[in-house]
Amino acid sequence: MGDASARKTLIFNGSPRRQGDTAALIRALTEGLAGEYRVVDCYRADISPCVDCRACRKEKKCVLRDGMQEIYPYIEACGNIVIASPIYYAELTGKLLDIASRFQVYYSARAFRNEDPGIRPKKGGVILAGGGDGDPKRPYATAKILLRQLNVREIFPLVCSHRTNDLPAGEDGEALSKVRELAAFLNT
Ligand SMILES: Cc1cc2nc3c(=O)[nH]c(=O)nc-3n(C[C@H](O)[C@H](O)[C@H](O)COP(=O)(O)O)c2cc1C
Repeated sequence: MGDASARKTLIFNGSPRRQGDTAALIRALTEGLAGEYRVVDCYRADISPCVDCRACRKEKKCVLRDGMQEIYPYIEACGNIVIASPIYYAELTGKLLDIASRFQVYYSARAFRNEDPGIRPKKGGVILAGGGDGDPKRPYATAKILLRQLNVREIFPLVCSHRTNDLPAGEDGEALSKVRELAAFLNT
């Protein structure tokens, strides 16, 4: 895989709001990215959750024929992955976790087929938006587990706009500046 793939960034957007806080932070990120990027809109993608059919314990693919089939090659080839989500009840959103359950094919490769899942080593980041309740530690920890499933070796410190009830993320100067730092980290 050449350098062009190393610069590709895959972004999982776990928000239902097209012009929401997560969207504003993703926009700032993509403005700073040097390479190609692709955003998976978890609320609108035609991707079902894993049903634990266990076929991937025996064969190297997911039997569910849906939008995830074109995301798998991108996951395997790209150089960067970012998980971006609003915080819902101190977690990533359910739709994002539904899609992330499809990463099970990679777990199965390692755990049941004794194979390398064939994912290029990557850098990654986590972007969260929250109204202001609770602690972002738990969704950040979940996102890091998911990124590691995808062979993300270096994870940038959490970027979080966590007072969106009072200040929209698009006006949160501190969070926006962290997003720009994340873009710079992913570009190198
Ligand atoms: C069902 C639901 C649960 C939420 N739970 C939390 C929470 O636990 N902590 C928090 O800070 N904000 C919580 N929020 C607020 C959102 O995280 C916040 O409004 C966020 O900025 C929305 O981002 P978006 O515009 O990208 O969708 C919740 C919102 C909803 C709808």
